[in-house]
Amino acid sequence: LKQVNIQKSTNTRDLNKYTKDQLIIDAGQKHFGATMCKSCGMIYTASSPEDELQHMQHHHRFLEGIKYAGWKKERVVAEFWDGKIVLVLPHDPSYAIRKVEDVQELVDNELGFQQVVPRYPNKTKTFLFISDEKKVVGCLIAEPIKQAFRVLSEPTGPESLSSRECHRAWQCSNVPEPAVCGISRIWVFRLKRRKRIARRLVDTLRNCFMFGSFLSTNEIAFSDPTLDGKLFATKYCNTPNFLVYNFNS
Ligand SMILES: CC(C)(COP(=O)(O)OP(=O)(O)OC[C@H]1O[C@@H](n2cnc3c(N)ncnc32)[C@H](O)[C@@H]1OP(=O)(O)O)[C@@H](O)C(=O)NCCC(=O)NCCS
Ligand SMILES: [Zn+2]
Repeated sequence: LKQVNIQKSTNTRDLNKYTKDQLIIDAGQKHFGATMCKSCGMIYTASSPEDELQHMQHHHRFLEGIKYAGWKKERVVAEFWDGKIVLVLPHDPSYAIRKVEDVQELVDNELGFQQVVPRYPNKTKTFLFISDEKKVVGCLIAEPIKQAFRVLSEPTGPESLSSRECHRAWQCSNVPEPAVCGISRIWVFRLKRRKRIARRLVDTLRNCFMFGSFLSTNEIAFSDPTLDGKLFATKYCNTPNFLVYNFNS
């Protein structure tokens, strides 16, 4: 089974690489095919005025949203050679809360969310990964939870292909297990993915969520994971049977 998973993730990676190369090649041919903007990461058709207009609007809002001017009081909970992680808590100054709301709006937009009210708004902890270029390039929103469910291993064989095409990337057990911390959102800026930013955000969350203890991967759960989220969680938790919560069954 392990062999199969390794095989799969390698394939996905190659596919990603291939798609990326394609985009770069296309971007070189002006006004033809799909282009990826090198600053906001949006993929659009440069030859379509409608697309260009949509890109202009997204471009401005997005870059404004992820801009991080630096705060007088910031809670730096981790530092790296390429950036730092700042923790924002519910009673922080309004400039911090506003930035979190702006970033969450961009993230929710990308994840295709309608506005969802957090269940424990005053217990929410938000971790922002700030790059050296003073941009919010990663965001993790966490909340306390009581229970979660284990993702079931994918069946191998031909069915596994069709299950990938269905709208949800996973199926889970209906037996609840106790859990402590829910990852309500995790997001990394498209142009900064696969640089271990999500991994570092979750490491920091496990270290900071409960004072005095480092949470195990059996105490954290992912809210209704996307396909990207599933691939990440499987790797991070070192098992395809990681915990999930907050989904419509
Ligand atoms: C999911 C997401 C947050 C991962 O962020 P990231 O910073 O790229 O992840 P990391 O670099 O820390 O990944 C760690 C490992 O997880 C695995 N992984 C992460 N994303 C993967 C992907 N898209 N495909 C395959 N494996 C992936 C890899 O094994 C990776 O290690 P490697 O690069 O050395 O092979 C990011 O893809 C994202 O923001 N996606 C859009 C929003 C979303 O879907 N969020 C999930 C909600 S549940
Ligand atoms: Zn752009």
